[in-house]
Amino acid sequence: MVKRGIKFGLIGIAVVLIAIQAIPYGRASTNPPVVAEPDWDVATTRDRAVRACFDCHSNETYWPWYSKIAPVSWWTQNHVDEGRDELNFSEWSSNYDELDEIAESVIEGEMPPLHYTLLPGSKRLSHAEREQLVRGLISTFGGSERYRSGSDGVGEDDDD
Ligand code: HEC
Repeated sequence: MVKRGIKFGLIGIAVVLIAIQAIPYGRASTNPPVVAEPDWDVATTRDRAVRACFDCHSNETYWPWYSKIAPVSWWTQNHVDEGRDELNFSEWSSNYDELDEIAESVIEGEMPPLHYTLLPGSKRLSHAEREQLVRGLISTFGGSERYRSGSDGVGEDDDD
């Protein structure tokens, strides 16, 4: 009786998983053309950003196989759409109005999002590479006086 219940339950889950593959959302996984990139200070900064940020903030997203399968695909599509909306290194325009935020987001540990660094195959930065990224972002986009002047830059967000 119980075994039967489990069997039907599993079949039910399988049927639902197969059925949701028919939903178009999340299947696009597209990379539109690269229009313009920021004027990176040095190539290393770009390399680090490619690894840590480009999957969500550029038109050069690497879409792993699991990003094409619902329901994971809905989640990845949503992240990439939101990430690109917020900041897109492939459609760069100098009037992006939160330049300071770019380095800050890394210093404060907001970006890249924690879940991303835990994904299989994610291109995690070492501590030293993260430092290089932060310095490169500051020299490319400016921002974060506190960090530049030697304090650890973590903590309250008072001065602007
Ligand atoms: C897994 C996808 C993903 C990755 C990788 C990622 N971001 Fe984001 N980022 C987002 C999303 C989604 C948003 C918008 C929603 C939010 O703020 O959480 C965002 C927002 C931002 C913002 C806007 C301000 C803010 O904090 O809301 C900045 C700046 C930013 N990201 C910088 C970066 C930088 C720099 C990197 C690389 C070190 C990076 N992100 C890596 C998904 C990502």
